[in-house]
Amino acid sequence: MTYVEILAGGKGTRMGNTEMPKQFLGLGTKPIFIHTIEQFLLLKEVDKIILCCSKEWISHAEDVIEKYIANKENVFVVEGGKDRNETIMNGCRYIEKHFGLNDEDIIVTHDAVRPFITQRIILENIEAAKKYGAVDTVIPATDTIIESKDAKIISNVPLRSQMYQGQTPQSFKIKDLMEIYISLTEEEKKILTDACKMFVIKGKNVHIVEGEVYNIKITTLYDLKIANAILKERENK
Ligand code: CTP
Repeated sequence: MTYVEILAGGKGTRMGNTEMPKQFLGLGTKPIFIHTIEQFLLLKEVDKIILCCSKEWISHAEDVIEKYIANKENVFVVEGGKDRNETIMNGCRYIEKHFGLNDEDIIVTHDAVRPFITQRIILENIEAAKKYGAVDTVIPATDTIIESKDAKIISNVPLRSQMYQGQTPQSFKIKDLMEIYISLTEEEKKILTDACKMFVIKGKNVHIVEGEVYNIKITTLYDLKIANAILKERENK
């Protein structure tokens, strides 16, 4: 089975004071997370979609899905976790509990706030996750990446041609992902904020799928303005 997990359990603090977490804010005529879910609903390769959000937003999310999505029989709303990886794991635990798990089952995890995900990126994630077990979506870094350990002095300037910016989806064989997460100490869990990094730290290969420059993550109000501009441009085409 191919599951998709839409990560919508964050608070969106960098967005500033908004009446609701950013994933529920409007983009054009509908909430951001609805745009995101719609991209996955278009694909017959996707079996079920799990939307994870914090407890207090579950009923709101369900109401919004009811309003905007017609074919929602394979969309499930589940409680997220205290951090992003815990949210991912809650989705996996839900799948294990309600649908059972096979060795070949994969999960495509995607930020609710990246509504411009493309069919190509999703399909390549599914294919690569089935083949390699762990996948990240990245784009080549255009700016030179500067490393500073103390935010005062440069500690390294890595070769730009070897640098990439991480996006989502990140996709995995579900059993492998759960196994690795369980093996982490509480200390490791605090440091490993990125699901792919768990695999890297444990010496496992993570395959790369090429993202898109406009597969942006809406983090700040500025990003929301850019997202509205992208949407308008597409509507005008
Ligand atoms: N996310 C999640 N569960 C959490 C934290 C984050 O599902 N406990 C999700 C967010 O909802 C978002 C995605 O992970 O769709 C990317 O995270 P980010 O942009 O950092 O979102 P927030 O944590 O909400 O933002 P901020 O750091 O500004 O508070």
